Amino acid sequence: MHVPAHAPGVRLLRTTPLRVAVIGQGYVGLSIAVRAVDVGHSVIGLDSNPQRTQRLQSGNSYIEDVSNETLQRCIDSGRFVATTSIEDCADFDVAVFTVPTPLRDGLPDLTFVEASAAAIAPFINPKSTLILESTTYPGTTEELFVPILEKGSGMIAGVDFFVGYSPERIDPGNVTWHLENTPKVVSGINQVSLEKVNEFYQTLVATTVMVSGTREAELSKLLENTFRHVNIALVNELAIFAAGLDVDIWEAIDAASTKPFGYMRFSPGPGVGGHCLPIDPSFLSWKIEQTLGSPFRFIDLANDVNSHMPEYVARRVVASLNRLRMSVNGARILIIGLAYKKNIGDGREAPGWDLCQLLYQMGAIIQAVDPLLDNSDFPHFVERVALEESTIRESDLTIIVTDHDGIDWSMVQSASRHVLDTRHRLELSPNVEYL
Ligand SMILES: NC(=O)c1ccc[n+]([C@@H]2O[C@H](COP(=O)([O-])OP(=O)(O)OC[C@H]3O[C@@H](n4cnc5c(N)ncnc54)[C@H](O)[C@@H]3O)[C@@H](O)[C@H]2O)c1
Repeated sequence: MHVPAHAPGVRLLRTTPLRVAVIGQGYVGLSIAVRAVDVGHSVIGLDSNPQRTQRLQSGNSYIEDVSNETLQRCIDSGRFVATTSIEDCADFDVAVFTVPTPLRDGLPDLTFVEASAAAIAPFINPKSTLILESTTYPGTTEELFVPILEKGSGMIAGVDFFVGYSPERIDPGNVTWHLENTPKVVSGINQVSLEKVNEFYQTLVATTVMVSGTREAELSKLLENTFRHVNIALVNELAIFAAGLDVDIWEAIDAASTKPFGYMRFSPGPGVGGHCLPIDPSFLSWKIEQTLGSPFRFIDLANDVNSHMPEYVARRVVASLNRLRMSVNGARILIIGLAYKKNIGDGREAPGWDLCQLLYQMGAIIQAVDPLLDNSDFPHFVERVALEESTIRESDLTIIVTDHDGIDWSMVQSASRHVLDTRHRLELSPNVEYL
């Protein structure tokens, strides 16, 4: 199937342009904001971080999927303003909430949702529509979001104004599937809310998928991410056993992936990171434990396996250096890629951090290359370096943690004394071993 590349996708609105407030200008919010501008809406991009809004106002994007060119086009249209001021959202028709939903001490932290809902509630107009997009456990929209909006506005949700939930499926760095061509699940707290939410997203995306309630929409997102988490854990644990059995897991995965039905490819790696997999499934297991008193064993197991992958990689480093008659203590180790996945500059929850920590505690001298990350994404005990042949040659061991496309992999292959390739990026050769 041919899917158009990440084109601006500007299309004419068949409905009246709306005044849209997007609360939170991160990966999700900024992508929605620029899409809404592109289709003809006027957008207020609200963010509590003034450094972010200033950068946006000067056309300087911090999200790879939104180029400076795209951002500038939005600014030049006169229909995009980034602001920290909630008053600028007054008179909105639609407000989309894309604020963080992290875990704090292992528990869901919904304070950003609560604070942003409380802040916007006094500005709710009769007939306006408010949509939560942040990933969260089933029941959040109706049990937490709606009461805050009703209290702050003095109006009745579903009657005076409309509320829904629509999970975001954005996959940073994915050039094939993006906001416009990925079907969007939409829901509302009642039929009229569902219709309003659906109408809005039909202006942004090619396909909307209506579900009957907000809980089902909330659960659908957690199901998607739990599915990935569990399947990655499966191949991670299998990779550990396959290495013990001296079986090439990568070749087995390639072979299994030729089955045209009933199998979906997942690859092992150094662990999971980002804002989704290490966090979202725990929202679901927390809700189930709280409400039903049962552990969600699949999620507990996947958390356990995936969170221990950096330790496994560290053990493999010990074994590799041992074969070279070296100890980790004093070894010069070059890490390639610290972002949690390829081709994006996102270091959140990245497993490479844990790996660096473990190797540092064992006395390694660590250098790292990642052209996409900010300096703040590098641990303080890791020296950030540029990828140069001399740096590679001077290292005792190279570890590929993230396989960004922009890296000169043939130089890594030829100049490394020994490589532990956790991503199966290089050709197999005497100086290369796979996870
Ligand atoms: N990043 C992804 O790939 C992705 C994909 C799907 C869903 N999600 C979900 O979407 C939500 C947002 O994720 P993200 O990656 O865009 O987060 P992000 O951290 O990149 O962006 C969130 C933004 O919200 C701002 N913010 C926080 N509190 C605010 C407030 N009260 N008012 C205004 N702005 C506020 C922050 O300053 C930040 O810029 C999360 O629930 C996440 O789980 C993320």
